[in-house]
Formats: sequence, structure tokens, C-alpha cells
Amino acid sequence: MSDTSKGQPAAMVPLSTKPAKTRPVRTPGAKTACIRTFGCQMNVHDSDRIRRMVLDAGYAEVPSYEEADLVILNTCYVRENAVDRVRGHLGELTRLRREGRVKKVALTGCIGAAQESTELQRQYGIDLVLGTHNTYELAEFVGLPTMEETYTPDLPGTQGDNSAFVTIMTGCNYQCSYCIVPTVRGRMVCRPVESILEEVERLVRNGTSYITLLGQTVDAWRENGLKFCDLLERVAEIAPRIWFTTSHPSNMEDRTLRLIGEKETIVKRLHLPVQSGSDRMLRIMHRGYKAERYRRKIEVFRDAAPDGTLSTDIIVGHPGETEEDHEETLKLVEDCSFDSAYVFKFSPRKGTEAAGIPGRVPEDVVQRRFLQVLRKIEQNAFTRNRRRIGVHEDIYIRHGQRPDGVAIGETWNGHAVHVRTGAPEGHYVTAEITSAGPHVLYARDPKT
Ligand code: 5AD
Ligand code: SF4
Repeated sequence: MSDTSKGQPAAMVPLSTKPAKTRPVRTPGAKTACIRTFGCQMNVHDSDRIRRMVLDAGYAEVPSYEEADLVILNTCYVRENAVDRVRGHLGELTRLRREGRVKKVALTGCIGAAQESTELQRQYGIDLVLGTHNTYELAEFVGLPTMEETYTPDLPGTQGDNSAFVTIMTGCNYQCSYCIVPTVRGRMVCRPVESILEEVERLVRNGTSYITLLGQTVDAWRENGLKFCDLLERVAEIAPRIWFTTSHPSNMEDRTLRLIGEKETIVKRLHLPVQSGSDRMLRIMHRGYKAERYRRKIEVFRDAAPDGTLSTDIIVGHPGETEEDHEETLKLVEDCSFDSAYVFKFSPRKGTEAAGIPGRVPEDVVQRRFLQVLRKIEQNAFTRNRRRIGVHEDIYIRHGQRPDGVAIGETWNGHAVHVRTGAPEGHYVTAEITSAGPHVLYARDPKT
């Protein structure tokens, strides 16, 4: 995943994503709904399910609040500024409701599952608040017959698009000091292998060419002696292109790393959050591994896929982080030579252990450390990206041509590429890389 939020280097995915491009034609008088997604890919996936419920209930999806009868905010709770962003949207919706435009507002996702949602509901008069485990209640709210409660993984993902997310597990059994996810998403639930394979087969039959296996700790998936690597291998036999996220270093097996290098259909891109390079901090964070073990995993990956891309998550300014700890992180960043990273300033989340740990790092120190880590990552990424210049790449088109003629694609090594082509999403073009920045490669115009 690359950093996509404008002007906010610490963000992990776009803080708010626009609705799907494929929308049914809007019939006059039809009810309209606008769905906004904040946060991680898990939420993007949940929004797809919400979207299908809403469309099934006869709503047409519209891109803006002004056109919508119903607005659904599918939210993220991981960092504090995410809540502030949502507050901003709720404020605007209150105004639109007063003007008689928007009629109903629903809040779903991680904020909905947190205590804070009671206060938000009262303050902004939200009509429906749902957590992450009871999105089925939305069906009732929008006028569909009530579904039985079922845990998230049994609900199928996006259908028919060029690319689709397939959730293979939800929740998380770790208890990282800073993280709210286990509280709002619950403990790990793994989806049965047969159900996953059936869904992948169906998606591929219907034209999906890129499958992303999804889970908070996706590589922790297991079932009756089968482990994530076995599942990945089987999916890689069925899907023409496959990727997975997010992994945990303690679950990541060497054989999975080697499989990434071996299987043609797996994109050679690994997102493996390290969080810190200091063993002392890793212990305080309860990450369950030491920096050396992480380094060894990276060696295996680099060996298996020498041109592959590696990304990570790093938190700076966790309570108790000293200058020596920070130096250790910088050293790890240098040693691993990441291709990209999400660098987060520590944000205290109510209900997490770290929120109560003394030893807050002053804001100016956090800011300096943040920039130091970010700069080092960018330098390394830039150096690695420049090595691709002159290489002819098969580029999978992820986002079709923009008004300026440029499409955004991805190489088999997981690099993002800007390429001038009218090739539709889901197709491949072959083009030579002519230049590189720290975040993206630029290709010569392809022949076709
Ligand atoms: N403060 C800062 N970053 C956090 N993350 C999770 N919780 C926090 C927090 N309280 C980051 C971690 C995680 C990513 C999804 O978000 O780096 O891997
Ligand atoms: Fe949060 Fe840690 Fe679980 Fe990741 S592994 S979701 S950081 S508790």
C-alpha cells in the first residue's frame, strides 16, 4: 500500500474513498445513497458489502452528500485524527439535514463499535450506529428482509469487478500496546478454506483478474492443520493475479516468502509492519518478535524475490521511546531498504494499554523523528526505484486513463507505474520504465 492521502504523509490509505465507479443508472424518483469509506482496506471491503445491501434495497448510489437521501459513513478508529475527520463530515451532514437535503445518516465500522459512538450519535443525531459485527442490521434499516447474524467472513466480497478483496479472516489475537483493533474487531475468526476457494473461483469465472486476500493478520489464517501458505498456494493456482495484506512478522513463514518468489501469479510485494527497530520498544509494544528476527525474514524475502517490493508500518513517539530506540529504528530502516512505508506518529487510543503508559514523547521530538524516518525511507525507495529504469515491465492497469491521459498500473514486483495508455482496467500493457520518483515509476508510452 502506498501513501495516498494528500499532504498527510502519515496516512495509510485514502482517508475517505469515493463510491464505486460502476453505478446503476439512476431512475428519477429513486432513493439515493452515498457511502463514504474511511481507513483501511478492511473497511473498503466492508463498504462493498454495505453497497450491495443498499443497491438491493433499491437505492441508487450517488457520489455526493447533496444528492443523497441516505448517507453511510463507514469509519476507522485506528488513529485520533480519523475521528476528527469523521466529525467534520458529520458537521456538514447536520447542515445538509437542516436544509432538508440529506434525510438519514448511518455510522458504521470501527468508530461505530467504539464507546465514543454514543456521544457522536447524541451530538449529531445520527439515525443508526453499527459496529463491525452487526452490519446485517443495516439491511433492516434500508428495508431489506433481516438477515441472520453471521460473522463477516461468510459474506462474499466484491463481484464482477476487475479486482476484488476476499476476506479470509477477521479480528486479531494480538494485543499490541497501542492498537484499538482487537477491541473493535474482536478475536480472530478464520473463514473456512472451501468457502474462500469457492468465492475466488466464482470471482475469477465472472471476470475478476486480481484477488487480494485480506485480514488484519492475514498470515495468521489457519484451519485444521492448513496454514496461510497452503491457502495462498491454492488461491494462486486459481487466480490470475493475487496479493495479500496485512501480515504479522510472527506469523510469516519462510515458505510463504519463498512461495511469493516462486509462483508467477503472486505479486512480489510484501507489506510486513515492523513498528520499531528497537527490541526494547518491540517488547513494550507486545509485538512478539525481535528486530533480528524481522531482519532475517526480510533476507529470505529479498532472496526469494530480489526485485520485489517491501513496505512496512512504523510508529514513532510511542510512550517511552528514547533517542537510542529511535536510532535503532533508523538503522533497521537502512538495513531493510524498504520500498515504501506508512510512518505514524503515536496517537493515544482510549482503552489501549499505551494510552496509560507514562513517558509521552514531546511533540517537537516526535515530529523530528517522524521526518527522519520518512526521509530515510524515501531515500532508500528512490535508490531502489531508479534501478528499474530501462527495464521493460508488464503493467497491470489498476486505474484507467485520467483526463491527462495517464493510467496507473502495477508491475509484477508491485511498483506503481504511471503510463500513458487507454488500455482498460484489468488489462496489461508492456512498456519501458524511463524515470522514477521515490513513490512511483514512469513508463514510456506503450506501442499499442
Ligand atoms: N498510533 C499510531 N499508529 C497506530 N497504528 C495503529 N494504532 C496506532 C496508534 N495508536 C498504526 C500501526 C499499524 C497501522 C495500521 O496503524 O503502525 O500497523
Ligand atoms: Fe493491532 Fe497488533 Fe493486531 Fe495489528 S497485530 S491489528 S497492530 S493488535
